[in-house]
Amino acid sequence: MSMDQIRDAIMSGDRSQETYEALEIPTTYRGATVHKDEVGMFEGMASRDKDPRKSLHIDDVDLPELAPGEALVAVMASAINYNTVWTSIFEPVSTFGFLERYGRTSEFAKRHDLPYHVVGSDLAGVVLRVGPGVSKWKAGTEVVAHCLSVELEDAEGHDDTMLDPQQRIWGFETNFGGLAELAIVKANQLMPKPAHLSWEEAACPGLVNSTAYRQLISKNGAALKLGDRVLIWGASGGLGSYATQMALAAGAEPICVVSSPEKAEICRKMGAELIIDRRAEDYKFWNEDNTKQNPKEWQRLGKKIRELTGGHDVDIVFEHPGRETFGASVYVARKGGKIVTCASTSGYMHEYDNRYLWMNLKDILSSHFANYREAWEANELINRGLIHPTLSKTYSLDEVGQAALDVHKNLHQGKVGVLTLAPEAGLGITDQEKRAKYETQINAFRNV
Ligand SMILES: NC(=O)c1ccc[n+]([C@@H]2O[C@H](COP(=O)([O-])OP(=O)(O)OC[C@H]3O[C@@H](n4cnc5c(N)ncnc54)[C@H](OP(=O)(O)O)[C@@H]3O)[C@@H](O)[C@H]2O)c1
Repeated sequence: MSMDQIRDAIMSGDRSQETYEALEIPTTYRGATVHKDEVGMFEGMASRDKDPRKSLHIDDVDLPELAPGEALVAVMASAINYNTVWTSIFEPVSTFGFLERYGRTSEFAKRHDLPYHVVGSDLAGVVLRVGPGVSKWKAGTEVVAHCLSVELEDAEGHDDTMLDPQQRIWGFETNFGGLAELAIVKANQLMPKPAHLSWEEAACPGLVNSTAYRQLISKNGAALKLGDRVLIWGASGGLGSYATQMALAAGAEPICVVSSPEKAEICRKMGAELIIDRRAEDYKFWNEDNTKQNPKEWQRLGKKIRELTGGHDVDIVFEHPGRETFGASVYVARKGGKIVTCASTSGYMHEYDNRYLWMNLKDILSSHFANYREAWEANELINRGLIHPTLSKTYSLDEVGQAALDVHKNLHQGKVGVLTLAPEAGLGITDQEKRAKYETQINAFRNV
């Protein structure tokens, strides 16, 4: 009943602090969970056969008390990130270990250590309550949230909050994530919701847009500059669709790698011209049993890049597929170039020929999510219409398992949204004029 009142208040468009402070807060809410007693359910199966529809549940869970510095958000929409796929297939480790370790750190952290894990690392919604000590954000404010959770009690995190020893990804390494009707975040995860976007469009860029921003643009990552040539793996996927837009917006030249003509078309719609269909090229960087690489295939990729660029190698490789592509990525970067990695989707034990690295003075850089400043700047790019959400499909909360399966099976384009409290897609746009200006770009990923 009180959840209906919350939804009705949001739908009415009234954003006054008094209205939201007067709303009754429910004691339970619906959220997408994995269960601790099911961690072993896929044992012995190949990763590709593990089905998130079996492990992701929609449960009524208790709403915990709000700790100092936190905010309770009514979530209108969320999105699927690959981390929810990892959680749902219990790979490379079960996320309950994160919750247990976090739970041991303080009285408030203990709330997170539960027999279920409410997942999800993106949201768009409205603040309902703030905890003690929060002054910047008020009930009734429309927000999105980035997923960096930090404590900042140690000195190490004060230059770059990603270096906080207590750095965690909300909804992956913490509980009470965004794939739910309500979510608990630290107030310093909140950012303004772009007014020209619907709830689900606003929810979908957060994690990947911020990650791509640090990895490619920030001085903490590859620090891309005008004219750079960038090889972008998975260029129409979650991370890649933002990296591609950023490269183009920054006056660089993306060389987009995708696996189908449809995905190539999406890259063209974003404005990219140099595209490699890895499936059509049929690269076999590894032998059949995945034990030995074939440098001739790295050379074939390098040759293809030179064909497209008029004889040039790339300044930056935007890496995340990991084991499958990493040897090739190191090979194709130009002398003095950078390979910047944030993930290992196909396996984390990478192999590359070090001679190509040291003799050619290349750098391998690591990158992981983004600090608040970087996430804020990335959100501003969306807000200012310089970068656009790449939402292709939206599911209901009840269909979250299918939504995660799509991403797991690489059947999606860009981002997959999930409606949580929002009764239908397309709601929440409050700046129609700005919307009209960017309508085509915002819809580029739909119905492909
Ligand atoms: N460290 C961080 O902060 C961070 C943040 C976000 C994501 N990640 C990680 O980054 C990875 C990608 O995330 P995402 O959101 O971009 O996922 P995504 O939406 O699934 O996109 C990844 C794309 O990579 C391509 N790809 C997948 N396997 C490949 C392979 N073996 N060889 C070449 N290309 C391959 C696919 O594109 P094509 O089939 O079209 O080539 C796919 O669409 C995941 O492992 C995720 O957990 C890390």
